[in-house]
Amino acid sequence: MGDYEKVLNDAGYLYGADSKGMFQSMATLAQQCAMACWDLSKGVELPPVEAISHVVVTGLGGSAIGGDLLRVYCLDRCPVPVLVNRDYTMPGFTGRDTLVFAVSYSGNTEETLSAYREARERGATVIAVTTGGKLKEMADRDGVPVIMVPTGIAPRSASGFLFIPTLRVMERLGFLTGIEKEVEDLVGHLKTLYGRLKPEVPVDKNPAKQMALKLYNRIPVIWGSSGSTEVVAQRWKGQINENAKAPAYWNVFPELNHNELVGFKFPESLLKNIHVVILRDDRDHPRVQKRIEITRSIISGAVAGITDVRASGGGALARTYSLVYSGDYTSLYLAFLYGVDPGPVEVIDHLKNELARD
Ligand code: F6R
Repeated sequence: MGDYEKVLNDAGYLYGADSKGMFQSMATLAQQCAMACWDLSKGVELPPVEAISHVVVTGLGGSAIGGDLLRVYCLDRCPVPVLVNRDYTMPGFTGRDTLVFAVSYSGNTEETLSAYREARERGATVIAVTTGGKLKEMADRDGVPVIMVPTGIAPRSASGFLFIPTLRVMERLGFLTGIEKEVEDLVGHLKTLYGRLKPEVPVDKNPAKQMALKLYNRIPVIWGSSGSTEVVAQRWKGQINENAKAPAYWNVFPELNHNELVGFKFPESLLKNIHVVILRDDRDHPRVQKRIEITRSIISGAVAGITDVRASGGGALARTYSLVYSGDYTSLYLAFLYGVDPGPVEVIDHLKNELARD
């Protein structure tokens, strides 16, 4: 067994060197999702549904990805459009018929606070999702409902807390149905997957550890499919960036067939450093699946490797999260291959501190 496998097989080391308890957050994701579904949004007062013609989730980073999970989940299930806004300003159409989820785990992200203010000024119905901070202060002052999220974990580990209450609100408004069943399914599936992906499971039986070994010393390029795994591709990229402190890039089928794919010719030697991960769901459009097969054959000689990761589970949420969960674990194992602590994101903290100086 090589040194790298040894690192990944030493569960005691992995837990001991994980200063922010990222593995602990992974272990409790199923409970997090259950609590998010059945407790967090209870009692939040909602506007009359006739007043809403579209929904905007505004937030950044780990607080925005839940917005994309909501957007994609709603695509073919919800009668009103859902958009995600990662900016200081709100889209021009924001007005009295807009429902805005202002999501910030810390409650102190300046772009989100600024977008919150603008949403209020434009008369939108706003619901804040946060652990506290300035967002909670402003919402309390403005009489805006707040979905309070438990504190103490990294924002990017809180996707269940930040995303699932928004699903429940959409359900209570009558825009979605069957969320409890979806979350029950998700919770059960996460528990099963935990048994396969956790640090105690050795490399030869643990697909996330195997994936991390493939991505080590390579540039990961993650491809998903529009309207399904696209959000997971973005999540894998973000998690590899923040946890492993490494670059990663993402794109989606079928769009990438019309541009990115053409760029797999040069520079030949650098392309050999790319490992392509294709996120697959058997329920994806059959023509997309066909495209994936053809794309694989086109790039197979050009890159270091290509790995398919397949969704599992019954419900749509469980299937999406099966891929999110394996990407999250992969990024944590990759961090340890690089010898870094996955939790701290000093670069983000530094940037926020610099910006806070004036
Ligand atoms: C840190 C993380 C970041 C933050 C982002 C916004 O774990 O994932 O991407 O989510 O800097 O901060 P919050 O979530 O506090 O609004």
